[in-house]
Amino acid sequence: MDNLNRRDALKAGGVLAGIGALSLSLFTAPPRAQAWNWSASGSIAGSGDGVDPMTVWDPAADQVIAEILESGQVPAINKILATWTTNNQPTPSGLPPNLTAFIEQARQLPAWTDQSKLTAADDFNAKQGPFIGTAYGFGAGLLATVIPHESRAVYYSKGGADLQDRIAKTAKLGYDLMAQQPFGPNGHLIVTCVKTRMVHAAVRHLLPRSAPWLQVATESPKIPISQNDILVTWHSLPTTIMQKLKAWKVPITDAHSAGLLHSWQVTAHLLGVQDQYIPATWDSANAQSKLVLDPALGPSPEGTKIADHLLTIGPVLAATSFITKPMLASFTKFVLGNQVAKWLNLKTDGIWDGIFATLWGPFVQLYQFGKIVPGVDAIYFQLTEFIKVAALLYLNNGGLKLELPIPTTNNPS
Ligand code: HEM
Repeated sequence: MDNLNRRDALKAGGVLAGIGALSLSLFTAPPRAQAWNWSASGSIAGSGDGVDPMTVWDPAADQVIAEILESGQVPAINKILATWTTNNQPTPSGLPPNLTAFIEQARQLPAWTDQSKLTAADDFNAKQGPFIGTAYGFGAGLLATVIPHESRAVYYSKGGADLQDRIAKTAKLGYDLMAQQPFGPNGHLIVTCVKTRMVHAAVRHLLPRSAPWLQVATESPKIPISQNDILVTWHSLPTTIMQKLKAWKVPITDAHSAGLLHSWQVTAHLLGVQDQYIPATWDSANAQSKLVLDPALGPSPEGTKIADHLLTIGPVLAATSFITKPMLASFTKFVLGNQVAKWLNLKTDGIWDGIFATLWGPFVQLYQFGKIVPGVDAIYFQLTEFIKVAALLYLNNGGLKLELPIPTTNNPS
């Protein structure tokens, strides 16, 4: 893997091309409350160079994407890439050679991929899909709105102009992962990850040109989506989801647990995270999460607006007679806690606050045994309906669009 530090990033030049003369004084110490002390011995690579991931981006992707953005070829490239959707399709012809070379390399599964663990992840998804999906939606989807770096990047980038469409996308990749054999020949996840990696590289190139983002960004230097940022979001996904599933006492075998972790390790690698930062075990993931995710949480005006849109998704609310915005707010508070609810100014429903606090646990157990009888167990039946649509909250646009075009602009508004 490439080891890139800030100095190398500057050499690569792509990310910063066109920003103008950047004084080195910009490169102050990174705003990490605690020094980077996570040991790479707990990583997939087993060792590392000790460089703080706040100072590392994705040089291979950043350079090639900066070049194609500067050359004005992206609209034509997006048309070609729209035809590439399935893992076993060859990389489409007609792309610039440097982009083809990048994709050919980026689409390779890591040598450490363990197919038996991916099969266990499939089995876990098949057995506990509704709860995993609900945790993706409310654990990861809403948690992203209290990660200011991510909320601001989303808000001021191109997709921020249509929040309704944009907000769900990070959680949707998680949901995409729940399809059977997502890394297999007929799956889509390898393509989705490589495209996402390219979209992120484009955002790194474009956002430093957005005046509103520059005004609020706290990154130092002001380049979004560092390896640290991706790890933060990564922990808002599998690490948080596993914590929630355990708290809800969803039955999880050791193989299922290892499978979920592994599918996310492979995903992190395909998203461009260096193996020296990818946790090898849940223990090292939990330790890294404390270091990177916990201090990254907080309120931001952008995140609060995004959360408000998330909880107001009209088609979902219209699909049932009993799901209301305050009910979704109550569930969010139940899953993410009072502090997050306060940050997001959530207006919850007192009755549902009580129902989730007292009946969610018994519901999870009854659901496992198929013991919920419509009419008799009225409240449990409503909860069954709830988990069916809760996951849809993030999928109501018809699933993850596989085009994932490389953006050429920021949010124009
Ligand atoms: C785009 C997933 C981390 C900011 C995307 C897309 C996906 C995705 C699937 C493509 C959506 C589309 O263009 O239609 C993920 C996953 C992450 C992650 C799974 C980590 C595990 C981050 C982080 C940030 C971020 C850390 C910011 C700090 C963005 C932005 C876009 C994007 C700004 C483009 C928005 C646009 O212009 O439409 N991400 N992301 N992502 N992501 Fe991420």
